[in-house]
Amino acid sequence: MIITIDGPAGAGKSTAARGLAKRLGFEFLDTGAMYRAVGWACLQRGIDLHDEARVAEVAAVVKLELHDSHVICDGHDVSAAIRTADSSKAASVVAANPGVRSAMVDQQRATATGQNFVTEGRDQGSVVFPNAGCKFFLTADAHERATRRQVELEQRGYFTPLDRVLAEIHDRDHRDQTREASPLVKAADAIEIDTSRKTQSEVLDELELVSRQRSGLPLT
Ligand code: DC
Repeated sequence: MIITIDGPAGAGKSTAARGLAKRLGFEFLDTGAMYRAVGWACLQRGIDLHDEARVAEVAAVVKLELHDSHVICDGHDVSAAIRTADSSKAASVVAANPGVRSAMVDQQRATATGQNFVTEGRDQGSVVFPNAGCKFFLTADAHERATRRQVELEQRGYFTPLDRVLAEIHDRDHRDQTREASPLVKAADAIEIDTSRKTQSEVLDELELVSRQRSGLPLT
């Protein structure tokens, strides 16, 4: 069974998806990391991110491997490099490129179809896995999302003022929601959870309960 978790940046998707996969014994696919790795690969090659044809070419040839929390791109461990502010911005630009999306969607379907996976991103329930057994859409207010992102960046050694993180979140939300290719939308049959005033474990408990009920897995 496939469980999809979509939503805007900083809504707590990654932690929730990772935790849910662990609790259910499912595999986990972080699709944002794939777009980030393509963005990183373009920056490395000095390619203009708005050159759609060249960027799509990179997405078609780049070799991506995702193992637990490690992301390997063309043999380089880019797990930390893809989380910088520059890589976040690059990811958001390349994610609007239809050629990049089509290459990533093919890889995501090839990876998860027919298996037990929790996949996390922006279009997993709406486009990539429309027949997923269970779909969630996580949200949180922008200030809360910016605060969480700031803490996450700080833990990785990047101190960023809150107003800058908030501006970047607004910027990214706008790009993700207004792009023509698979904009961020909630699938009609997705369950929306506002995580603003919930702890990670409250969110995880809710996701686990609904997933078990929907999939017929035993309730613990
Ligand atoms: O979830 P994230 O912040 O790691 O995602 C990085 C970027 O990739 C972000 O701008 C949204 C985009 N993305 C996307 O367009 N589709 C996905 N399935 C996952 C991420």
